[in-house]
Amino acid sequence: MTENLMNLRPMRFRKNLRSWYLKNRRILPWRKTKDPYHIWVSEVMLQQTRVETVIPYYQKFLQHFPTVKKLAEAKEDQVLAQWQGLGYYRRARHLHQAAKELQSTYRGTLPRHSKELKKLKGFGPYTSAAVASIAFGEAVASVDGNVSRVISRLFTTDKNIESYAQEILDPVHPSDFNQAMMELGATLCLPKIPKCQVCPVSQDCQAKKQKKWHLYPRKKTKKPSKVLWDHVCFLYHRRSDSFVARQRGQDDRWAKMWECPGIESETQHTAPLELKDFLSSHIQFKRELSPLAIFTHKLTHQDHHVHVYATEVKKKEIPSSFGQWIAVKERHNFAMSRLQQKVIYLSLNELLDSSQ
Ligand code: ADE
Ligand code: SF4
Repeated sequence: MTENLMNLRPMRFRKNLRSWYLKNRRILPWRKTKDPYHIWVSEVMLQQTRVETVIPYYQKFLQHFPTVKKLAEAKEDQVLAQWQGLGYYRRARHLHQAAKELQSTYRGTLPRHSKELKKLKGFGPYTSAAVASIAFGEAVASVDGNVSRVISRLFTTDKNIESYAQEILDPVHPSDFNQAMMELGATLCLPKIPKCQVCPVSQDCQAKKQKKWHLYPRKKTKKPSKVLWDHVCFLYHRRSDSFVARQRGQDDRWAKMWECPGIESETQHTAPLELKDFLSSHIQFKRELSPLAIFTHKLTHQDHHVHVYATEVKKKEIPSSFGQWIAVKERHNFAMSRLQQKVIYLSLNELLDSSQ
């Protein structure tokens, strides 16, 4: 490893990287704050999510929960409602749980060291290092997907990425260093075709020297996504402008979030029949049960083929297994996945259109 590191001159590398960063960094809301809580929220949101997507969520979230204390005192439903549409909802649950731990054991302040931070819910190696370095100046390298790609190319390796990161870290400016590495990965050292011609550290990059950037990082063989067939029913009561939704259990990726009643099936053919059984003893469809829309919704490891059924009901009597009535105007207070938001949007369009 050290042999390889000799090809990179750390002092020169840090200087080039930092000057480039200070000149070219994007102006982002979390770069204007020193509040460790705000930095923490930004880092959690930025995992697996693009900067442009995060910005409005970050601002809205902090308006609702400006301090650790406010977040700790909130109900999980409220936290999820602020997170809806951002995906990976486990992050929100962990953030909330960690806020409660902080409130009860540290009086709402974050510990300053990554080792302490790691004990909190949802603080993995990346988040702990990012918060400790950016908010408190601790000299620890934080390695996310972007940084990992940069390191892999600098040293033409797929091993010991974390150790390399720690060795080249600028101990005087760890916050700038970590953010500069992320920025480099996000704006120049791009996954498909990196912009080596304008890269500030190309002098110190093995992939560039050996013209091997396309070989690093080595591609992992991806598991194919699981295919699921969702049949979802939007039940609408026009007079009260409300629809039926139920809250999921405690168990899975969408735990405790709200959804329109329906079924999810691993096979294509039986699903409509199951749905018919599920609904028909209680609801009379005007026409034959046929979907008003079909769309595909891709998640990280799942492809959902979603069939949307929408119908109006005259009476508000429904079995409790279907859920409860929610006013269309109030729906933003109920956390729903993007998939469910699409279902509602499509159904409302169709039902309100066809009535004109
Ligand atoms: N991705 C992860 N953390 C980030 C940060 N602080 N700024 C920009 N992009 C990031
Ligand atoms: Fe990435 Fe190219 Fe810069 Fe190397 S020279 S770090 S491959 S952008």
